[in-house]
Amino acid sequence: MNSRETDVLVIGSGLAGCAAALAAARGGSRVVMLTKQARPEESNTLYAQGGIIYRGRVDSPAQLAADIIAAGDGLCNPAAVDLLAREGPRLVDEVLIRDAHVEFDHTDDGTGALDLTAEAAHSTARIVHHADATGRSIEEAMLAAVGREPGIELLTSQTAVDLLTLSHHSRNPLDVYDPPTSVGAYVFDQASRRIGTIMARETILATGGLGRIFLHTSNPAGACGDGVAMAYRAGARCINMQYVQFHPTTLYVGDERFLISESMRGEGARLVDERGREFMRDYHPDGSLAPRDVVARGIHQMMHETGAACAFLDISHKGAGWIRSRFPRIHEKCREAGIDITAQPIPVVPAAHYSCGGVVVDEWGRSSLRRLRAVGEVSCTGLHGANRLASTSLLECLVWGTRAGQDAAASIARGGAYDLPAIDPWKYETEPVDPALVAQDWLTIRQTMWNYVGLVRSRKRLDRAHQILRELHLEIGRFYAQAELGDALIGLRNGIQAALVVLLAAIEARTSAGAHYRID
Ligand code: FAD
Ligand code: SIN
Repeated sequence: MNSRETDVLVIGSGLAGCAAALAAARGGSRVVMLTKQARPEESNTLYAQGGIIYRGRVDSPAQLAADIIAAGDGLCNPAAVDLLAREGPRLVDEVLIRDAHVEFDHTDDGTGALDLTAEAAHSTARIVHHADATGRSIEEAMLAAVGREPGIELLTSQTAVDLLTLSHHSRNPLDVYDPPTSVGAYVFDQASRRIGTIMARETILATGGLGRIFLHTSNPAGACGDGVAMAYRAGARCINMQYVQFHPTTLYVGDERFLISESMRGEGARLVDERGREFMRDYHPDGSLAPRDVVARGIHQMMHETGAACAFLDISHKGAGWIRSRFPRIHEKCREAGIDITAQPIPVVPAAHYSCGGVVVDEWGRSSLRRLRAVGEVSCTGLHGANRLASTSLLECLVWGTRAGQDAAASIARGGAYDLPAIDPWKYETEPVDPALVAQDWLTIRQTMWNYVGLVRSRKRLDRAHQILRELHLEIGRFYAQAELGDALIGLRNGIQAALVVLLAAIEARTSAGAHYRID
């Protein structure tokens, strides 16, 4: 790929990217969708466990909205909450069930009804799921739908390096007087190691989250904040970045933090300390089912006070057969780690899970840059406020992905021909990259973010993090300017940028709210 053109460029092939690509193609646009992964399904979406919000047997948009706002500590954008509560269940029906044929579990009472589960801070059971591997079921079905759509070209092993904007990249110096506008991206082809341009009339960022900038995270390897970093460098406004949600329960065995779904607590599992005491009652009347930020901090506090290395999640009072069929993946993963969840409690600790902030967008996914949209976890619609209600994320991907794709296609159709500017080709540098330096820089970022910008923050900790990361940012920037480009360096440059964006937001936000908790 050297230089090419399309109507809509979608960066990312998780649920948000797939939904956007499908809607844009059906609106008549030519779509290029790319992912940096070799396997297009590899994404946060693939690992989602608990499920996606649908509607409860006795439920209403107002009831769902109230739950979202309560979990978000009152800081949610009411328009976004209202939009999701009204549109979400309809799009689950239309896009996921009828169009993509996503497999969700049904009750076994012969009624054919969808099985609904509960999760913390939901006032009713309203979440549909496919055992404990809902993300895989959704992602595979959506990619199959993308594959059936001739208007979409899916490219794998292609890493977006930077967004192209008129003011930064156009060869015409007078373009700097136009409003800030995105016109596509520089893309690194991992096979040829060449960098080309994909010029687009509309660019949709769907690059997911940033959990990997923390030492302990539920997120897979690719989630290191590429989208936020690219958008920030391009000049798009990012907000609420201090609200990084920590999931209370990830498996405390080995280095990787495998998620133990919140739906397990929704189905009756109890959080206990090593003596079997339900300590969460000390912190919130809802105990184990309190909002996620409260539970994560409750565990942190209990560990701090008692010196315990972890908490325990106990589902063993339920029948062994039921546990194995309701939570097959978690059962298997724990068995591999030597834990039989039908008979023993599971050792758990909190880990970075979800970015509630991101590139600020409106109800059509439009960012502060013209022709740049953001959807899914990389975006901030304001839906989550200061803390996300469980299982709203996949629904947000679906709602905003679909709307952004539809609106991008409609605005291209309305706008007629838009002449894309001439862009300078990439300038290659040659300094070899030492993998030992990249590995150590990542360790510094992750340890600093975990220890100083984690669950509990203070001015002193944040200042210390600022000293470390500011220096590292300059160092990586200097090196990047002369180094031979590769995926590892692209990721590191984005990781340090995303970490700084989170850190600076945390420094600015002096009062605690939701997932941002300051002890000073
Ligand atoms: P992703 O699914 O992460 O997709 C990002 C895409 O962008 C990928 O294709 C990636 O390769 C691509 N990409 C990134 N950077 C680049 C680049 N530079 N160039 C090219 N491509 C790039 N939410 C729920 O609602 N319910 C749940 O049950 C649930 N469970 C979860 C369990 C786990 C373990 C985790 C980690 C998250 C869970 N979440 C859940 C959150 C939810 O899964 C994510 O927020 C959501 O899937 C994000 O989707 P997305 O499309 O925005 O991003
Ligand atoms: C989980 O299954 O606990 C994750 C749910 C979510 O993050 O929404």
